[in-house]
Amino acid sequence: MSEGNEENSIAGQGGQVNEGNRENDRERIIIYDTTLRDGEQAPKFGMNAEGKLEIAHGLASMGVDIIEAGFPGSSPGDWEAVHQIAKEVHGPVISGLARCVEYDVKAAGEALKPAIDRGQGKIHVFVATSDIHVKDKLRKTREQVIEMAVKGVRMARSYTPRVEFSCEDFGRSDLDYIVEVAKAAIDAGADTINLPDTVGYMVVKEETERISYVIRGIGSVGKGIIFSVHNHDDLGLSTATTLAAIEAGARQVEVTMNGIGERAGNTSLEQVVAALKVRSDYYGRFYTGIDTRQIGPMSRLVSTITGQKPQLNSPIVGENAFGHAAGIHQDGMLKSQKAYEIMRPEDYGVERRFPLTARSGKNQVVQTLKERGISFDDADLEGIMERYKALADKRREVHDDDLVQAVRGDSQVPAYFSLKSFSAGKYPEGAFAEVEMNVDGKVKKSTKSGKGMIEASEKAINELTGLDLDISRYDARSATSGAGSKGIEIIVARNNGFTVMGQGMDDDTVTGAAKALVDASNRMKYVMDYAAAGRG
Ligand code: KIV
Ligand code: ZN
Repeated sequence: MSEGNEENSIAGQGGQVNEGNRENDRERIIIYDTTLRDGEQAPKFGMNAEGKLEIAHGLASMGVDIIEAGFPGSSPGDWEAVHQIAKEVHGPVISGLARCVEYDVKAAGEALKPAIDRGQGKIHVFVATSDIHVKDKLRKTREQVIEMAVKGVRMARSYTPRVEFSCEDFGRSDLDYIVEVAKAAIDAGADTINLPDTVGYMVVKEETERISYVIRGIGSVGKGIIFSVHNHDDLGLSTATTLAAIEAGARQVEVTMNGIGERAGNTSLEQVVAALKVRSDYYGRFYTGIDTRQIGPMSRLVSTITGQKPQLNSPIVGENAFGHAAGIHQDGMLKSQKAYEIMRPEDYGVERRFPLTARSGKNQVVQTLKERGISFDDADLEGIMERYKALADKRREVHDDDLVQAVRGDSQVPAYFSLKSFSAGKYPEGAFAEVEMNVDGKVKKSTKSGKGMIEASEKAINELTGLDLDISRYDARSATSGAGSKGIEIIVARNNGFTVMGQGMDDDTVTGAAKALVDASNRMKYVMDYAAAGRG
């Protein structure tokens, strides 16, 4: 299956989203990304306009066909963000959500105007169709809902020929009624009919049957219309139901990076795209325009902007997704990469890891020691492994300082540096840290500023130690679950390719972080001194 950028973008094919998806015998699945709308609306995933714009550029570069940039009628801030994206992000179609009410449709039409003027703006109108929503939420009759749908689509058509209509809660709606509503929306001018499982209720076979039923029921009225799905993950089935919908005739999938979205989230872009690629033997005729090598960087960008990382075991983008920890697995991977991987991490812009844990075997420990340039005595391997296992049992993950300790047999790392006094605070435009430390028996002081107090502390401590530690992971935990528990900061720092973990404990989390940095500095010096002596 050919992937990514060598394919023409659907959005670029004369602007015809609903005609450009058939190439020879292969069918392109339209990737409609709603990270910036459904993803952003979830608690703790809010983004500002600047962050949204950066993500939109990334999505465009990755090859998504349609970006749902927001819900312009929901707030002035969202209107602005959608407008800016419509102005500046070229390539994909830019879409905006609207209820079937004049205020929303007008807001969407105006916000999207720059994209509409280029033939690349889409309005996505929706109304709920399940009895639970129609009667209890909207307090309307089914007939009134059809009138709303028709009115909404017509209003949207007065701004753009690209109009998507969604039957909210399709998953729990009566199918014959859906056929009726969808036909009316198509008659009114919709080019896409979206059939969302709004509450993630569908199981796989049902999704296949329901999507097939609706497409069959709409019959010739649906000619040239794109059928779309938008599934939520309440039962953890959204990737499976989305793939089932493709087999049943859906040609557009609404997805988000990292699967973010309302409640348990939306179908994740990376999972659907990877499934179609990895299982091209099964899904052969379907392909997407996504450059999968950009998935990792995009996932990290969304994490940075939202401040929320995917779960460690999240497929494709989780830190452990290509991490091999068990001894048997690590040994298998050393012999054949295919032993425990169905895809290559480099094809998804992510890294393979062989984290050392108490489960790791001798082969992996030896391999890591060699890779790191940490010299050891072959004759002492049994002893090294014994000490390694004892240390690893106490650590969740083993780092280079633990390896050196196992090799040297030291019971603890020497304290080259110790914190004498520490204070930090915020300016209106940033922060500062003032650090006093014992370094090689002398008291030294440094004051630095930074974007935040931890960054300022990092700079000050690095200046005093002469090391160049870089915080790659920062975890704040609680020593106990009760109120008043001490904050523990754990910092993994890299320097010259080495990784160590420092720990600090204090009532104040910033002071705890500074203590953890000093601990990490001691560990890094210990590793570097040993490696330098070994190399010399
Ligand atoms: O989940 C849903 O039904 C939605 C619609 C607005 C498409 O997000
Ligand atoms: Zn949704």
